[in-house]
Amino acid sequence: MCGIVGYVGEKQALEVVVSGLRRLEYRGYDSAGVAVVADGTIQTRKKAGKLANLEGLLGDDPLPQSTTGIGHTRWATHGAPNDANAHPHVSGDGRVAVIHNGIIENFAVLRAELEAAGVTLLSETDSEVAAHLVSAELAQDPADLVAAVRRVCQRLTGAFTLVIVHADFPDLVVGARRNSPLVVGVGDGENFLASDVAAFIEYTRDAIELGQDQIVVLRRDGVEITDFFGEPTQVTPFTVTWDASAAEKGGYDLFMLKEIAEQPKAVADTLLGRIGSDGLLQLDNMTLSDHELREIDKIVIIACGTAYHSGMIAKYAIEHWTRIPTEVELASEFRYRDPILNSRILVIAISQSGETMDTLMAMRYAREQGSKVLAICNTQGSTIPREAAAALYTYAGPEIAVASTKAFLTQVVACYLVALYLAQVRGNKYGDEIATIVNELADMPGKVDLVLDTTEGVRELAQEFADAPSVLFIGRHVGFPVALEGALKLKELAYMHAEGFAAGELKHGPIALLEEGIPVVVVVPSPRGRGLLHEKIVSNIQEVRARGAKTIVIAEEGDELVVPYADHIIRVPACPTLMQPLVATVPLQVFACELATVKGHDVDQPRNLAKSVTVE
Ligand code: F6R
Repeated sequence: MCGIVGYVGEKQALEVVVSGLRRLEYRGYDSAGVAVVADGTIQTRKKAGKLANLEGLLGDDPLPQSTTGIGHTRWATHGAPNDANAHPHVSGDGRVAVIHNGIIENFAVLRAELEAAGVTLLSETDSEVAAHLVSAELAQDPADLVAAVRRVCQRLTGAFTLVIVHADFPDLVVGARRNSPLVVGVGDGENFLASDVAAFIEYTRDAIELGQDQIVVLRRDGVEITDFFGEPTQVTPFTVTWDASAAEKGGYDLFMLKEIAEQPKAVADTLLGRIGSDGLLQLDNMTLSDHELREIDKIVIIACGTAYHSGMIAKYAIEHWTRIPTEVELASEFRYRDPILNSRILVIAISQSGETMDTLMAMRYAREQGSKVLAICNTQGSTIPREAAAALYTYAGPEIAVASTKAFLTQVVACYLVALYLAQVRGNKYGDEIATIVNELADMPGKVDLVLDTTEGVRELAQEFADAPSVLFIGRHVGFPVALEGALKLKELAYMHAEGFAAGELKHGPIALLEEGIPVVVVVPSPRGRGLLHEKIVSNIQEVRARGAKTIVIAEEGDELVVPYADHIIRVPACPTLMQPLVATVPLQVFACELATVKGHDVDQPRNLAKSVTVE
């Protein structure tokens, strides 16, 4: 949420900053703005709306040349998405420019204090106070900008990444981080700050993770990192494992289409190196000991949105393979309901971005209560894996489209790897049983590829139902979270009313929603896997058809039993029951993407949304 870029070096800062913002725009697109330090002044340009609006403004009203600059794309929290509330915010004397991501919780008190001192604030944001405070603190000791920033940070509560430039310090960019993401890119004669490595991957793959409550001072020839009190701190350098082309559209019209197509590779990469020649699992970064894993008597999965759906699927596999009771909870609910936690509970936090505030806060709470936290995450250098006791990375590569696709599939795969690893360590399964399941997983990239070859029919269906007032999705067992995921994709991309239900639950109320012609997407379990489930869902299909619904049935190749009940069939390759979500979700992603396209929506940047939700 909110994309932040800072640069100091030899290049034209504006070019670097704007290209970084372009790569970060998925984090927020309510407004965009830049500031450069030039000729002893701060020069800013900012504009409501997407980055293209700012680029238009920069074309009409260019900025002077400068090698030091900052930029911001906003997802609005405090104040409407207009020009005045766009960042950077500038101090009253015009000499400090600040960009901010997060929420400064004590901003009202600080704002009142500033107003009482005669400061005029020009925006409704919480962020603007930081610019005025830095200016006031600097007045105490005009030679030391960094000390002024430190003192301001000590006064702020809540979540903030701040990046600051000052007219009197032309070769300096100062960043500060509490609870909101900020990563350093280390170049040669130039250095970068950004919410996410995507912003600077074009220039360097050498990065440094910033920890909690750290201040970074960026100069051309070096980076200095301290805590909020000026003490040097331990930092973790890392090398980004993907290159700039991974964050490009690569010939696709949409990032989402590219990311859907990348799913076979994403799944294969997530499995890579984690399966030994004996078919057993070897998990990198599994820093929890076998003894600790044997002690676990309960698992709690916490996540949000799509990641939560992957956790729901994981529950079926974990309980089936390990017999460890598993709960799945929305992180935002878990944190505030006084959950029962102790050292024998393993908390699995799933997050593509590694920065989702609800998940981060829930995970911190679990850690404070003594539970062990394992993170499943897609983003190197992010907070959630850094703060977890152990981490398992998904190797989906950068996910730029706001709607999550490839991250979802890899989250399911990573959860399965954890489940099998637990079964292996705890002796719940024989080695050959584990090897059999691992082989099934290894077959999945090929099967997902087959689904991708047959999406034309799905697109046609989407066009046919573009005017439907509502779409319902039903499934049983692991098909239920798949149904929820299908509905979420449709809501966020096509802005249509869509709901996912456990198919058996429909008759307990939601069936009243059915009207003549309403499309109902049914995720049908394999008739070979859990036969009883198949029979039950066939009955559910009949129930909805009897009420005039049009059924779109997702069924495996060779399942002829559903044919008489389906108005439309989408075929997916036959796979074991627990593997089915990896194929059944893909047509639903394509369905939502196509419907959104038909309706003329911005698929990669749906309205009101942002990727990486770094506020609670
Ligand atoms: C939906 C979507 C969101 C995210 C959720 C969690 O397509 O992308 O629901 O899944 O905000 O985000 P992460 O996984 O980054 O914690």
